[in-house]
Amino acid sequence: MGAPRTILLCLFGAVFHLTASQAQQCYSFQHIYFGPFDLSSMKFHNVSCRHGCSEAVLSLDTGYRASVTLVQKGCWTGPPTGQTLFDDRALPPDYSVVRGCTTDLCNAKLMTHDSIPNLSPAPNPPNLSGTECYACLGIHPEDCTPEKSRQVRCHQDQSVCFQGNGQMTVGNFSVPVYIRTCHRPSCTIKGTSSPWTNIDLQGSCCEGHLCNKDSVTQPFTSASATTPSQAPHIMALLLMVPLLVGTLGGPLVPLP
Ligand SMILES: *[C@@H]1O[C@H](CO)[C@@H](O)[C@H](O)[C@H]1NC(C)=O
Ligand SMILES: *[C@@H]1O[C@H](CO)[C@@H](O)[C@H](O)[C@H]1NC(C)=O
Ligand SMILES: *[C@@H]1O[C@H](CO)[C@@H](O)[C@H](O)[C@H]1NC(C)=O
Repeated sequence: MGAPRTILLCLFGAVFHLTASQAQQCYSFQHIYFGPFDLSSMKFHNVSCRHGCSEAVLSLDTGYRASVTLVQKGCWTGPPTGQTLFDDRALPPDYSVVRGCTTDLCNAKLMTHDSIPNLSPAPNPPNLSGTECYACLGIHPEDCTPEKSRQVRCHQDQSVCFQGNGQMTVGNFSVPVYIRTCHRPSCTIKGTSSPWTNIDLQGSCCEGHLCNKDSVTQPFTSASATTPSQAPHIMALLLMVPLLVGTLGGPLVPLP
């Protein structure tokens, strides 16, 4: 493959037939991780939910072993179905997954970092572009000062440097993000969004050794985020999983 980044967005939508059924108990949790997460020994709180449970993981990565990952579990509150965008060529790499289910304490499938793909794979065989850039990722501008950034040797066709900011959102849980990393000359920035989740990024690219040392709090224009000519194949996926409460029990969809 040789692709240094992967972007995948899946929405497991469900149509809940609202009968007079009783509420579900669901795990309730939200947290931001700056490395791999492992909830397998976590004691969660419970909440009572009328329309089922949900769980979501959103991860944004520099592609150079630095990530911000949002994990949320709680009630299913979003729209029952929706369209999601899937783009496996965009940089910086990101991934989102949302699943819903309708049995007690069923939102316990996305428990470790193993449930999402590796967004920082090193090219194998090693292949560097010859460009070096600053790389950092955080939720405060101070996380991304040039002094706090690492210097990375860019992979493959990533021959320009990138700096930007944005927002990661799942339900009503939203955090700002600040990022520097390598990019391709096309500098196409493409977040992912679904009715539930959004990874929204703006930024700019520059050419030259360690050139991405401008402020990451500046208001970048998002023009390059919507350049369709550079956008690689984007598939709109409509994943509709009708669920008849009472005929199907258990988790809606097995995870990939
Ligand atoms: C959560 O709900 C389950 C099932 O109703 C119950 O067994 C468990 O004790 C509850 N946990 C907490 C922390 O309330
Ligand atoms: C290294 O990556 C560049 C850009 O993707 C590609 O053109 C080149 O063939 C690669 N070289 C090797 C040895 O894989
Ligand atoms: C929104 O967030 C608050 C606290 O962060 C939480 O108590 C509430 O249940 C959330 N509402 C929804 C609709 O998720």
